[in-house]
Amino acid sequence: MTEFEQWLARATAETEAVIDAYLPPEEGHQKTVLAAMNYSIKAGGKRLRPLFLREVYRMFGGTGREAEPFMAAIEMIHTFSLIHDDLPCMDNDRLRRGRPTAWVAYGYDMAVLAGDGLALYAFETAAKAFEMTGRTERVATALKLLAQKSGIYGMIGGQTADVELTGRPLSKEQLDFIYRLKTGALLEAPMMIGAVLAGASDQEVRTVERMASLVGYAFQIRDDILDLTGDQEVLGKPVFSDEKNQKTTYVSLYGVDQARRDAEAMSSEAVELLETLPGTHEMLRQLIGMLVTRQK
Ligand code: IPE
Ligand code: IPE
Ligand code: MG
Ligand code: MG
Ligand code: MG
Repeated sequence: MTEFEQWLARATAETEAVIDAYLPPEEGHQKTVLAAMNYSIKAGGKRLRPLFLREVYRMFGGTGREAEPFMAAIEMIHTFSLIHDDLPCMDNDRLRRGRPTAWVAYGYDMAVLAGDGLALYAFETAAKAFEMTGRTERVATALKLLAQKSGIYGMIGGQTADVELTGRPLSKEQLDFIYRLKTGALLEAPMMIGAVLAGASDQEVRTVERMASLVGYAFQIRDDILDLTGDQEVLGKPVFSDEKNQKTTYVSLYGVDQARRDAEAMSSEAVELLETLPGTHEMLRQLIGMLVTRQK
């Protein structure tokens, strides 16, 4: 293993432990929905969003624990987006993170509720940060960002256009809107939250937002490429889902070669922005680079 791979394995395990600590116990008359929530979140996944949150927090000199509830919260929001994305009324997929999707395992009704449950429990969880730092104004700003980037001007907005425009040709402007919101917003949120909690300046937070937006766009292009060229066993989700759903993607518009080149260019631009920020960058730089060549 390279030094980076060792670091990533350790950092992912630590992130996993943080998420685990904030999951609700499966008890009470609502235990079915709690089980469905935990089933989806405990299935694993790369944990990139909480990892980015932690690393940006540390890059800006953060040393407290108030980033931890936000790390769990962003993974809850992300998992909610996946549970609903897989529903029969959306992408209609049956495999996620190497397991039957939530709706296959728990039924359509419980999957909708599990997504709703995670979306709201994310805020209940993130609010625990108020008791973990004296800088409560930073926690308030972070909560606002979490809501904005997840909601109608963020992920939900992007998913709306993605679903509604399915089966139709898209303009570059429409595709940009979808990618920036459905995927970019949930990478912007954790990186910006990490920066805000550590006390970054407004200008630094704006740079982080632009960097994360590029990372997110490149990440979605790679996701589209893997939908065509990936291995279902490795990915833990179905291949050819986009074709099945007649989605216009970056790859269907520009071809795989151009898509690869553009994702790499966006990733390099993100790294250039990273280099303008304070602190040490080495692992973040490698993490961003890895995302455009990843196999899962
Ligand atoms: C999948 O995200 C959804 C997209 C935005 C493309 P990830 O590829 O980060 O999924 P997990 O968390 O590793 O399962
Ligand atoms: C989904 O895009 C992005 C969100 C879930 C917000 P995709 O539909 O391409 O994601 P996968 O491929 O199912 O993970
Ligand atoms: Mg989708
Ligand atoms: Mg999907
Ligand atoms: Mg996809």
